[in-house]
Amino acid sequence: MKTILIAGANRGIGREFVRQLATSDWTVHATARDARGLEALSGTCEAVHRLDITDDDSIASLAAELKGVAFDAVFANAGISGDVTLPIEAIDYDEMFRVFNTNTFGPLRLIAALKANLMAGEKRLALGMSSLMSSISSNDWGTQHCYRASKTALNATWRSLSQEWRPDGISCVLLRPGFVKTDMTNNQGMDVETSVAGMISVIETLGLADSGRVIGYDGKDVAW
Ligand SMILES: NC(=O)c1ccc[n+]([C@@H]2O[C@H](COP(=O)([O-])OP(=O)(O)OC[C@H]3O[C@@H](n4cnc5c(N)ncnc54)[C@H](OP(=O)(O)O)[C@@H]3O)[C@@H](O)[C@H]2O)c1
Repeated sequence: MKTILIAGANRGIGREFVRQLATSDWTVHATARDARGLEALSGTCEAVHRLDITDDDSIASLAAELKGVAFDAVFANAGISGDVTLPIEAIDYDEMFRVFNTNTFGPLRLIAALKANLMAGEKRLALGMSSLMSSISSNDWGTQHCYRASKTALNATWRSLSQEWRPDGISCVLLRPGFVKTDMTNNQGMDVETSVAGMISVIETLGLADSGRVIGYDGKDVAW
């Protein structure tokens, strides 16, 4: 059995990962940030942990709780969109920080804290959740300043991490789910089942040669 930790798993795409992996050869650890989220995950997987990805103490508690547990993959899926409608003149920089703190700093905090767990695993996959909105070259319609920038920055840092951790045999890969029907999109887009099934197929093939890539649920690379 392979073991994965999925952060931000109580609803949306993360929750669907837990559901689909429950009948696979993956053992799943899932996180949620409050009692309601933990309750939603109760009984669905091997273990459930409390985690607010923006909170250093919460990250430290998780790392202490998981000391000695080997993970083949750690997936920083948790994310927020913030207010994607704001024009630049109206952007509140506290809000911009909140989006970056969740989407960019959070995954870095998590993956750094759990590096020893990945080193103890076999597949050594450090997975981040990107988006087509991260792509600068595909951005020909604007909008979503905070969200786009937070995911572009995530890509940049994950790419650096891919170089830094290559000697350790850790593959640092970003996934793109497509436009998916969840709370984040007001339930518009493709079915979450299709997106997650695609991403699981991608994850099954990943190795060190893929480190530094941004890969879609359809197996295609996302342009930088
Ligand atoms: N849906 C799409 O079309 C789409 C497209 C591209 C990329 N993505 C990315 O996919 C990921 C999942 O999105 P989704 O559509 O499933 O969104 P969602 O339904 O809104 O779920 C977001 C998840 O992240 C968790 N989360 C948010 N802030 C957190 C924090 N500070 N600490 C820990 N967990 C936190 C939420 O927990 P709570 O319930 O506690 O809030 C929830 O479990 C995100 O990174 C998103 O940017 C989504």
